[in-house]
Amino acid sequence: MIILGIETSCDETAAAVVRDDRQILSNIIHSQIKEHQPYGGVVPEIAARSHLDYLSPVIQHALRDAHVTINDLSAIAVTSGPGLIGGVMVGVMAAKAMAAALNKPIIAVNHLEGHALVARLTHDVPFPFLLILMSGGHCQLILAKDLGNYEVLGQTIDDAAGEAFDKVAQCLDLDYPGGPQVERLARQGNEKRFPLPRPLKGRAGCDFSFAGLKTAVRNIVESERKNLSPEEDQIFKADLCASFQAAIRECLIDRLKNCFAHLPPNINHVVLSGGVAANQYLRSALEDLCHAHEKSFIAPPINLCTDNAVMIAWAGIERLKRNLISDLDFAPRPRWPLDQL
Ligand code: KG4
Ligand code: ZN
Repeated sequence: MIILGIETSCDETAAAVVRDDRQILSNIIHSQIKEHQPYGGVVPEIAARSHLDYLSPVIQHALRDAHVTINDLSAIAVTSGPGLIGGVMVGVMAAKAMAAALNKPIIAVNHLEGHALVARLTHDVPFPFLLILMSGGHCQLILAKDLGNYEVLGQTIDDAAGEAFDKVAQCLDLDYPGGPQVERLARQGNEKRFPLPRPLKGRAGCDFSFAGLKTAVRNIVESERKNLSPEEDQIFKADLCASFQAAIRECLIDRLKNCFAHLPPNINHVVLSGGVAANQYLRSALEDLCHAHEKSFIAPPINLCTDNAVMIAWAGIERLKRNLISDLDFAPRPRWPLDQL
């Protein structure tokens, strides 16, 4: 079984070819970061047009790298939501055209299910497992019971973790996307300098909240980032990034402890995924917590945590194995919660 995966839901135009024996035959990503950077975030219209320009060559590149032709494909898997609808439509229309012309099955993949399942490509992770999903648009604790069967145990009541990283970066004049910049600066900073809030810490449940934390960072920037020399400003930014990251870590750990306390006893595996899972500081904090609770901790390699088409192809393989193929008339969806598959 060989599947082509297509991903166009945000600002990466991506295509990958994956085999059912867990071999990644190719993984091509064309990042649009440079096109969105002047605006400090993703501009949906620019993203959609850019996907249109690059998707065809990216697919050809993926097939070439994998040394396969379109005739070798068993099926085509495509992100059909959630995401920026213009981009999702570009990927879905291309996938439908290929599937119709080649008379091959098409599989509509939920982007979040892609993030959830990619750990099963890289590691032996049986269902059920706990998924910590942290991306630009989502921050959720999910019980992955089986393919297509997910229960949301907790989620953010305002901003997603990645969004908070991006907004903190923006108010410190760091480039988009903010996560990697904040992590880099935080490495040199003093995380005790700024006493930031830990929203929801100590409260029952396992929901998250990051909006107050982001606002607290903005208030400190507005009141204290004045008349600083370039050296002082650099230290200010590093200390604030470190303090912010420490607050995020504490919130995550507090919420996860609550989650562990109510988890069914057969959940022994915890998977971390989504773009924020690229953050080494948070990765190792979560790993320590899982080990302290005698759970195995699995985080896919960083290039498979941030958006990619390998995860879409793999989710397609898992679905095709169970004969879960889609009709050609499925609709792209801007919103598509994981517990509504
Ligand atoms: O999963 P993803 O690539 O796209 C979405 O589906 O949203 O996640 C992108 C998010 C961005 O908010 C980005 O700032 C964040 O992941 N991110 C990070 C890091 N790398 C990416 N956040 C914190 N630390 C990082 N190293
Ligand atoms: Zn994503």
